[in-house]
Amino acid sequence: MDSKISKADDILQKMLSEKRLKGVEDRRVGSEVFDSITLKTLYKLSNSGYIHRLNGAISTGKEANVFKGMDENDKFVAVKIYRVTTSDFKKMQIYIQGDPRFHVRTTNKRQLVNAWVNKEFRNLQRACEAGIKVPKPIVAKNNILVMEFIGDEEGNAALPLRQSDIQNPEEVINKIIYYMKLLYQEAGLVHGDLSSFNILIQDDEPVIIDISQGMTRDHPISEDLLNRDIDNIVKDSKKLGLKISAEDIKSKIIDLKS
Ligand SMILES: Nc1ncnc2c1ncn2[C@@H]1O[C@H](COP(=O)(O)OP(=O)(O)OP(=O)(O)O)[C@@H](O)[C@H]1O
Ligand SMILES: [Mg+2]
Repeated sequence: MDSKISKADDILQKMLSEKRLKGVEDRRVGSEVFDSITLKTLYKLSNSGYIHRLNGAISTGKEANVFKGMDENDKFVAVKIYRVTTSDFKKMQIYIQGDPRFHVRTTNKRQLVNAWVNKEFRNLQRACEAGIKVPKPIVAKNNILVMEFIGDEEGNAALPLRQSDIQNPEEVINKIIYYMKLLYQEAGLVHGDLSSFNILIQDDEPVIIDISQGMTRDHPISEDLLNRDIDNIVKDSKKLGLKISAEDIKSKIIDLKS
């Protein structure tokens, strides 16, 4: 047997025998097979009380899987696990290299993914401090990020704006633009992948997610990405029956006096 797999087996057996992490039947978490380092990281997070159990997948994306979990106090948490093998390293390198907060000169995939997760954690922290509603980051370890669960009290995850049937489109769009402004002016960041996929609706309010690629305002590509984010919001507003131009949104975001 491959030594990596047998190591993963050992870790898993330990988890199961000590009943540390419930909801993991074999090397799989949900329908996904994770490598031994990921399992070891899950084990450590469970040992420290951050994840007591995993209660199924919320989303299986290109690069990451998001699970619903529970911490040691039975509070829901969201667990985002990046897959090292399928991550887009070119993109990660471009976004990380121009960011003065990170000095990653590595071509080592695992280290790059870990830095990426750390970047998502720090961006969430900065956004929180700026007063933007995002999932509060709880802990980042290797390729795993644990954060506040966005959903209802029964544990149903909030739906993305794209799939939500919202009653108050104008309020929601205005709030999103206000958050873009706070992100830009207070946190000094541009989201870079903002769209109705990465905005969840919880109690009729928008919550911004998936901010790993978010970069500082002084990054050479930040203006292009801000324009793209704005164009996406214009399109989403249109779908909701609202008429707002890219210029209007941009002036709200970058006008320091408003
Ligand atoms: N904190 C959270 N609480 C509840 N649901 C979440 C949370 N974070 C993410 N999700 C759910 O998981 C989905 C994917 O999350 P996210 O956008 O962060 O990953 P992703 O990077 O887009 O994944 P990929 O790009 O690989 O598809 C979201 O659309 C949302 O449905
Ligand atoms: Mg996303």
